[in-house]
Amino acid sequence: MKKNILLLASLFFCCNLFAQSAATKDLMQRLIKEDFEFADTQYRYMMTLAPPNKMPQSYNEKENKLIANNITWWCSGFYPGVLWYIYEQTGNSTIKQEAERALQVIESNQSFTGNHDLGFMMYCSFGNAYRLTKDEKYKNIIFHSSQSLATRYRPSIKCIQSWDSSARFFCPVIIDNMMNLEMLCWTSQQGGSKKYLDIAVNHANTTLKNHFRPNYSSYHVVDYNLQTGAVRRKATWQGAADCSPWARGQAWGLYGYTMMYRFTKNKKYLVQAQNIAKFILNHPNLPADKIPYWDFNAPLIPTAKRDASAAAITASALLELGQYTQGVDKNKFVNDAKLILQSLSSDAYRAKPGENGGFILKHSTGAYPQNSEIDVPLIYADYYFLEALKRYKDWYL
Ligand code: GLY
Repeated sequence: MKKNILLLASLFFCCNLFAQSAATKDLMQRLIKEDFEFADTQYRYMMTLAPPNKMPQSYNEKENKLIANNITWWCSGFYPGVLWYIYEQTGNSTIKQEAERALQVIESNQSFTGNHDLGFMMYCSFGNAYRLTKDEKYKNIIFHSSQSLATRYRPSIKCIQSWDSSARFFCPVIIDNMMNLEMLCWTSQQGGSKKYLDIAVNHANTTLKNHFRPNYSSYHVVDYNLQTGAVRRKATWQGAADCSPWARGQAWGLYGYTMMYRFTKNKKYLVQAQNIAKFILNHPNLPADKIPYWDFNAPLIPTAKRDASAAAITASALLELGQYTQGVDKNKFVNDAKLILQSLSSDAYRAKPGENGGFILKHSTGAYPQNSEIDVPLIYADYYFLEALKRYKDWYL
């Protein structure tokens, strides 16, 4: 009897482990260290190029010019976020000072209500700052940002409206919006009003109902009728077609439902995330190096452009999903995340020192149909790449 219990316990323990050889562990340890040292060098270079009141976004190789954007652009929190991730690993005080300077530049965003992106802007930045410093002023800024984001919640559809209405969409909600829920959940968890968690849960439930196809791929945009709450149209903005799986959208959904499971422990979010992961990882158009084309049905496959940002987000999400999954699925999720990190760390995707405007990764795609940011470095690719490396180090080494 005792023997059987011991056997069962050890079986359970083995199922929960991610199987990797000592050599692989050693390789990943070295790779992660090297990537962070490289990131430290690159961002100290980028600091010298960054304008005082804008946040680095991308790089124009032809003109050898860093592209920086206004602070209300959805990506403004990633630059400080990247710097905090680097500082955490290297302890470089120059990087920390630059992170603090960047936070000051974007601080006024806490009152911004012009779109749904406050979670990206304020949690990836101030969230990491608070995690590492426990400075209450950062927490207050996040709380205030959640209050601003909640003004975009529409009770009639039980969702946060992503963009303001336009000639194209009345009340658009995009799959990316799942990412902004993390700040709301965190605010409630840290003693803020419970209403933020309720909003996040409602949003996640509505999105689960309306954004997904039977194969667990997602539409990019769902447009709602605010009066009746009905879905008007399912469409895309950055994908190849309304019916096609835009690669970064799949990654946002995967990350979003994994994160919602972290906060709620609601099994339906976990199952959703696991199914999205399987859609991505088993897709016949996912290349052997696991870096997706910008859309799983992109025209021109196999010569279509890749999206390293989608790969980085996917890797980070898979590593968290691996924490909540057992057995062969866990092994698949963590192993594929590892392969993504190895690909992104190779010469094919990782820049050389002093190149790429100081960005770490090459070959991301922002908005292909808009002919915008095609095959370029993007700040959020670097952010989720570093987050994934940290997660691998913390959880699997
Ligand atoms: N949230 C916008 C994007 O993923 O491009």
